[in-house]
Amino acid sequence: MSDLDKVSQRIQQLRESINYHNRRYYVLDSPEISDAEYDQLMTELRRLEAEHPALVTLDSPTQRIGAPPVEAFGVVEHPQPLLGLANAFSYEELAAWHKRAGNLLGRHQFDLVCEPKTDGLAVALTYLEGLLVTGATRGDGYHGEDITQNVRAIRSIPLSLPKEAPPRFEVRGEVYLPKAGFRKLNEERAREGLPLLANPRNAAAGSVRQLDSSVTARRPLDIFIYALGWAEGKTMPDTHWETMQYLKSLGFKMNPDIAMCRSLDETKEYYQRWLESREDSPYEADGIVVKVNSIALQQELGNVAHEPRWAIAYKFPPIQGTTRLNDIGINVGRTGSLNPYAILEPVRVGGVVISQAALHNEEDIHRKDIRIGDWVVVQRAGEVIPEIVGPVVSRRTGHERVFSVPDRCPVCESEVIKPQGEAMHRCTNTACPSQALEKIKHFVGRGAMDVDGIGGKLCRALFKAGLIKDAADLYYLTREHLLSLERMADKSVSNLLNSIERSRNRPLARVLFALGIFHVGEQYAELLAETFDSIDDLARASEEDLLSLPSIGPKIAESIVAFFRQDGNRQIIEKLGRAGVRLKKDQTERTERANLPFVGLEFLLTGKLESLSRPEAEARIKARGGKAGSDVTRKTSYVVVGAEPGSKLLKAEKLGIKTLSEGEFLELLSEANQSHRDSEEGSSITGR
Ligand code: IVH
Repeated sequence: MSDLDKVSQRIQQLRESINYHNRRYYVLDSPEISDAEYDQLMTELRRLEAEHPALVTLDSPTQRIGAPPVEAFGVVEHPQPLLGLANAFSYEELAAWHKRAGNLLGRHQFDLVCEPKTDGLAVALTYLEGLLVTGATRGDGYHGEDITQNVRAIRSIPLSLPKEAPPRFEVRGEVYLPKAGFRKLNEERAREGLPLLANPRNAAAGSVRQLDSSVTARRPLDIFIYALGWAEGKTMPDTHWETMQYLKSLGFKMNPDIAMCRSLDETKEYYQRWLESREDSPYEADGIVVKVNSIALQQELGNVAHEPRWAIAYKFPPIQGTTRLNDIGINVGRTGSLNPYAILEPVRVGGVVISQAALHNEEDIHRKDIRIGDWVVVQRAGEVIPEIVGPVVSRRTGHERVFSVPDRCPVCESEVIKPQGEAMHRCTNTACPSQALEKIKHFVGRGAMDVDGIGGKLCRALFKAGLIKDAADLYYLTREHLLSLERMADKSVSNLLNSIERSRNRPLARVLFALGIFHVGEQYAELLAETFDSIDDLARASEEDLLSLPSIGPKIAESIVAFFRQDGNRQIIEKLGRAGVRLKKDQTERTERANLPFVGLEFLLTGKLESLSRPEAEARIKARGGKAGSDVTRKTSYVVVGAEPGSKLLKAEKLGIKTLSEGEFLELLSEANQSHRDSEEGSSITGR
């Protein structure tokens, strides 16, 4: 066998093995190997393909991401239209549908299949000779958008199929974002100050309809296949149930919650069970779909307008409710922002009692014309805190009051200001007790010092009891102090003291983030920790020093300097130091750095990246040990080229420096992912 044959054989083996493990992980939820072992297989395959580009094929697992962004989606004609579903909003409506179908068929006994109606985006996937060739949205049912590159990035969608697959066929399914993924995405957005996504459906649709498929690849999207569109060249099973089993055997992901029902009564039980456990489901469903099982009977029933007569959606009650807005309260945040929230007459919405809802700021309240005393529509959208959709104007009595933010802080009565260009009002007193408490809560929280077992409640209790006045006081708490609190037992006190102890040794970036310097989020904290070896070094930096760093602008530089100028902050840092909290990089952090994958590499970014902000991209480079330069020189290893690149691209080409597209850059980042110490997001949602 020639060398090339050997390589080709090894590539084939690796692809089969990776596809097998992908399926175990993404489709069957039961991996057989560790992430590290999986990564090894991928790394070997990437290496072989890079050495032998002629052997790269479109169905290789390395080709899921990396396609260049498109200008606009192409149009795909559906050979068989994608129909919608009629809705039933009550059991009576469902029974009426069943009766009509029975009348048409001349029999009232026939099997039904019940499935959750997953709330996401419908897609049609076409396979030719075992390869995924097209992915399309539903569009108007006859023409959809070509989203092939994007569906290729969804790991539970097979790129190739076993030999038994029909030579030409199309499957249909719902692409969705699991609730956990949705929550994580929104947490990241909140941290980055981006507007939150309303619900998992919008988030899924937005993630799939991205012109740059590398964005899709970074979202934890999943799919449930729910129908065969059409098939040629092979006889298909006689029933929907068997079709689903057959598609499952080909490697497609099915909803595990589908059920056979012999009668309408059984569908009612199925619906009830779902309604009761809806909250616990890992994905969002807005109802169930009831389908006639026999394909022959389906054909006999046919369609009416754009809907089949053989299936119906039996919807869950909406997760909206109407109630009285009794008052508008105000929380004072960590940075002194006055955050209004709705105090509601308690109301049951989708099985949960709601008594509070988010109101973002004064402008938002006025824009929606929400007044105190109004009847309002409240909504629980996915996992997000409930929000107010708007007032029921017809129920106004004239006694409603227009809200305005008070001019004194509700906690400390200091003056309130609204800085120009900001949406939020702020309390001007940096010693405001509410700010102090919120700062402590932030300090112990996730991504910061991560002190296990201390949440908002305990912080408040400790603060109220006068045991802590700032975050540093946590490290001076004794067993006696903690035992003096209500409901604190010996065991939990020991656990708490242990977790406080453990937090003394967090990396410098975490401590910087935990301090809560205005405008310094996790990304910037990481960036600062790259440049400065200790908090003292950072405290000594002037605005000019800071401005000389890439991606630190005047707002952040000013805020950092102002932070260290304040006596109170300096005292806290000093107290932290005395308590043995590590305020500088330690030896391991430095040696660990020497082993990072990008050590010795210098990147230069030019043009706008779609999926990352510039500071994010720089933080990621630095987190892997690389440098982010500000000009192209002979030392530059890679120039990352975004949209509308500047003259730096020309210069790079002149100097013969390697350029990377955004997709290639993301790929390189995820290859060099060192998930453990990476506190940045993205790497964590990319998963394997
Ligand atoms: S069957 C002809 N099954 O609901 C029947 N649809 O309003 C085609 N959906 O666009 C649909 N889960 O995207 C079917 N288990 C399921 C479903 C489901 C979600 C969506 C689908 C369709 C919409 C119909």
